[in-house]
Amino acid sequence: MPDDSRANPSKRHLKDVSPAGAPVAAPARPHFVDSVGVGPEGPGTIVHVIGARPNFVKMAPIVSEMARRQAFRQVIVHTGQHYDTRLSDDVLADLDFPECDRFLNVGSGPHGEQTGKVLAAFEQVLLEEEPVAVVVAGDVNSTLACALAASKLGIAVAHVESGLRSNDWSMPEEINRVLTDRLSDVLFTHSPEGLDNLVAEGILPGRVHYVGNTMIDSLRRCERRARERRAWEASGVPEAGYVLVTLHRPSNVDDPERLAEIAGELVGLAERWPVIFPIHPRTRARLTDSGQLDVLELAGVRCIEPQGYLDFLSLQAGAGAVLTDSGGVQEETSALGVSCFTLRPNTERPVTLTHGTNILLGDDPAEIASVGPASWSPTPCAIPLWDGHAAERIVDVLVANYALNRFAGAALTS
Ligand code: UD1
Repeated sequence: MPDDSRANPSKRHLKDVSPAGAPVAAPARPHFVDSVGVGPEGPGTIVHVIGARPNFVKMAPIVSEMARRQAFRQVIVHTGQHYDTRLSDDVLADLDFPECDRFLNVGSGPHGEQTGKVLAAFEQVLLEEEPVAVVVAGDVNSTLACALAASKLGIAVAHVESGLRSNDWSMPEEINRVLTDRLSDVLFTHSPEGLDNLVAEGILPGRVHYVGNTMIDSLRRCERRARERRAWEASGVPEAGYVLVTLHRPSNVDDPERLAEIAGELVGLAERWPVIFPIHPRTRARLTDSGQLDVLELAGVRCIEPQGYLDFLSLQAGAGAVLTDSGGVQEETSALGVSCFTLRPNTERPVTLTHGTNILLGDDPAEIASVGPASWSPTPCAIPLWDGHAAERIVDVLVANYALNRFAGAALTS
């Protein structure tokens, strides 16, 4: 097959995988410096994509570290996938996130529509900003849409939190993960199995950088302030004597029968322990429609609004146990040393099972009966590279690939 990747940068990934899917020979250079603009006109532009709550937390340390180094002009694009004050503005404010440069205002909708709206709007931003690279994080619809728009224009994509796999193709996030990694030039993993997962899919190891977890960078930066808030006191429950619950996955909340079963188990849980349940808008809508919100409140479950970043971190730090289906919460509880029970049949974050405090409950809501502060005493060991410095390692790689090479090229051609 002729190598046309230089003539048409948007095809540059095609050479990585043979028709049979086996990795081919390592490239002469590990990174795609081709996409770096050359010229004496000052630092190149990096576009950062944010859009949904978890990505604000993952991106904040990178934006902050990059600003400190002053190696790039930064443009922050908020897709508007999350738009509620409580899911977006409050979280961004707690993280001291700088003002966004562009707001795409895509809002909610079916997956195809939401992804398509981001794709079209983000393409326009790229045409105007002409970045040397786009940084995306995680596995939400905005992540995939922006990676696709950039890739089609031949703009380099850097993916933060690459290589996670649940191997559960029924999860929208799993589709987003696999496709985003395939489109990415630089892949940042936060745990060792990420590299194995990527290599198994034909990604060249030279593009993968094991850097650690930027979500834990944010946590360490905010932990003291969060603990001082003692957010559990607003619900009148004792420190370490309550269970914190979060549930928003379509597989748990979109099927009315399953949601009713889970709600029944939460009523049982509330008979044993105080329960605080900050309710995602998607879950609240389903519980309200079915009348189960009233049932939970009558049973004493503290049904509260989604919390800002600091208050939610405070609630996790003060909890005796956490019941969740969120990926980020599995990681944060592991870093905080708080017992986590995950209501899912699988996790794309196995390091939280082997090194952290997480246990998989599986698919059966009846397993919620085993949740409680006294039911398990975790002894977490430190997860390698979850040390609060992942963003520094990420910016090192981005500078090496997209800033230093750029200036080297400018010097050569001037
Ligand atoms: C999304 C991500 C999920 C992530 C979660 C964090 C995808 C496929 N899913 O799920 O991986 O864990 O964010 O919260 O990208 N809604 C509001 N206000 C908002 C946003 C959403 O009311 O600001 C409601 C709408 O009814 C919407 C529903 O929540 O239809 C779902 O929102 P959506 O962004 O599609 O997915 P999440 O469930 O938030």
